[in-house]
Amino acid sequence: MRRLLPKVIYKDQFEQVFFTFREIAKLLWKINPRFTLFLFVLSGLWGLLTFPTFYLEKLILDRLVANIGNPDLESVVYPISFLVLIRVTLEVTRNIMSSFLGFLREHASKNFHIEIELMLADKLSRLDVATIEDPDFQDRFNKIEREAGRRAWGMMMPLTDIPNYVIGFISTIGILWFLHPLIALGVILISLPTIVIDRKFIKKWYDFELETAPLHRIRGHVSHYLIRSRNYLELRILKLREYLVSKMRLVHYDIVGRELVLSRQKEYAGILTQIPALLFYAVANVYLVLRVVSAKITIGSYELFLRALLAASQNFAGLTSSLLAIYENYVFVRDLIWFLNLESKIKETGGKKLGKIARGIEIKDVWFKYKPDGKWILKGINANFPVGEKIAIVGENGAGKSTLIKVLGRFYDVSRGEVAIDGINVKDINYPAYHDKFAVLFQDFDDYSFTARESIGYGDINRVHRIAEIRAAAAKTGMDEYIESLPLKYETPLSPHFFKGVQLSGGQWQRVGIARVLFRKKAEILILDEPTSNVDPEAEEKIFNELLKISKEKTIIFVSQRFSTVRRADRILVVDQGKIIEQGGHAELMKKKGKYARLFTLQAQGYK
Ligand SMILES: Nc1ncnc2c1ncn2[C@@H]1O[C@H](COP(=O)(O)OP(=O)(O)OP(=O)(O)O)[C@@H](O)[C@H]1O
Ligand SMILES: [Mg+2]
Repeated sequence: MRRLLPKVIYKDQFEQVFFTFREIAKLLWKINPRFTLFLFVLSGLWGLLTFPTFYLEKLILDRLVANIGNPDLESVVYPISFLVLIRVTLEVTRNIMSSFLGFLREHASKNFHIEIELMLADKLSRLDVATIEDPDFQDRFNKIEREAGRRAWGMMMPLTDIPNYVIGFISTIGILWFLHPLIALGVILISLPTIVIDRKFIKKWYDFELETAPLHRIRGHVSHYLIRSRNYLELRILKLREYLVSKMRLVHYDIVGRELVLSRQKEYAGILTQIPALLFYAVANVYLVLRVVSAKITIGSYELFLRALLAASQNFAGLTSSLLAIYENYVFVRDLIWFLNLESKIKETGGKKLGKIARGIEIKDVWFKYKPDGKWILKGINANFPVGEKIAIVGENGAGKSTLIKVLGRFYDVSRGEVAIDGINVKDINYPAYHDKFAVLFQDFDDYSFTARESIGYGDINRVHRIAEIRAAAAKTGMDEYIESLPLKYETPLSPHFFKGVQLSGGQWQRVGIARVLFRKKAEILILDEPTSNVDPEAEEKIFNELLKISKEKTIIFVSQRFSTVRRADRILVVDQGKIIEQGGHAELMKKKGKYARLFTLQAQGYK
């Protein structure tokens, strides 16, 4: 979708490199400024030590040459040994710094990965459901999530090398400038073909990434099916595993094959760019030899300049390859920044705080569709949900029951009309405060595979340790006895993947879910979307007895396909193709002989 495209798209490759560098550095800085500074300073220091190292070597060599055959050993050995000692200390320091830098980098990359994951989760939890459901969003988000670990390392390496290369390059070029400005310029000039080639390959890599993105997606999907435990049984019975594995292998090698072609081209081009460099070194070397022979410079200086010459071009090559490596993360960083800057349409802050609900919720001529270009799902709904009433919603599959519930909880904003609570439009109410009023069990609710206590206690996270109250909620859905019989009782993990964990059945999960809703005591409106669709009749009877006798101050709205429970509600709303076509108590609707009466009779007949 157009509106989801990021604001930052740079055409020029250098701009892209700069953008990527800047954004990664900014993120690192935000995560831990002191650590980042330390990492950069350390890398810079390492580069800074290049010059003293070279210079000490020059001093040692000059002294050695000047003192060949000197009989006064004592006067020579001590000063030279002193220089050698400093030189060795410097080398050891550089080595220690280098391994320390490597260690810090690894640490930084892990932290970076964790922080990115947390940022993603935090941001995701604040976005509108409508945004999250967008397929374009999903594609990009999945890609960001999948790549975060690999990219974290891939970005940290080159980023922290840059200060060292830059300072190393500047200091060695400075040395060469002393020798002859033309030689310094020469080093820069012979690096130009490398820049040109790298630039060309930046573009090629980018095209390659674009070209292979769909392949990566296919591979990701297949691998997801292969390892997702939900599919184990089905994969086995359909004997899909071999087929999927070979499909994955094909796609994988297709990508690798294309990558190989490109890398090979790049290697050849790299070799070609080295030819002018080699010629230049030969000339520079001859020039140095002439300077030595004509006694213009010492042997030590010869060594110093020669080392500087090599180091300058190595640093330059290191710098360009680091920038290239950073560039490889452009698409990822662009997507990440786009994601982190996404704005939720429903704001978390501002709006009125609510007191206890006095009258209830009203829905006035509400129209709703999921996508701007989609069809209407709710078409002019009018309904009241007064405080304390127990209301059932019935209707065929796809009629719009779950949608109505999502609109009530303001998970989506309505397209037309309004949802109001005590006469205040929900759009004017503080969003988190509004959600405090609700306890919801969605039709496609998720299992919390933590301990039984947590799975129920998450209904009100502040009371997650109140075991007595958690047990009371579980008892209302008939789960207390079962949980008490488990090896670790309420501390038993509800997943066989954990030690002493158990696997709940579909109906048991629903009962845990209902217990979670019941545990959320602060909620004034309880919404349950087909809460007992998998629950056995006896348990269902018990649960509805509990639900319906719940405090007069709480409103309960539930969706159900079982008319034996629906009939016990104070009022029943019949939804049909996005409209409420009938409403009233069971007896009233039966008398009406409309859709409700027909569906009820149909189900009742099945039991005769
Ligand atoms: N997130 C969504 N994006 C787009 N369309 C959706 C979405 N959720 C539901 N729909 C569509 O809205 C319509 C109503 O769906 P809804 O889930 O509200 O029906 P329902 O009455 O709860 O059905 P069921 O009895 O099967 O639970 C369906 O046509 C469905 O395809
Ligand atoms: Mg539904």
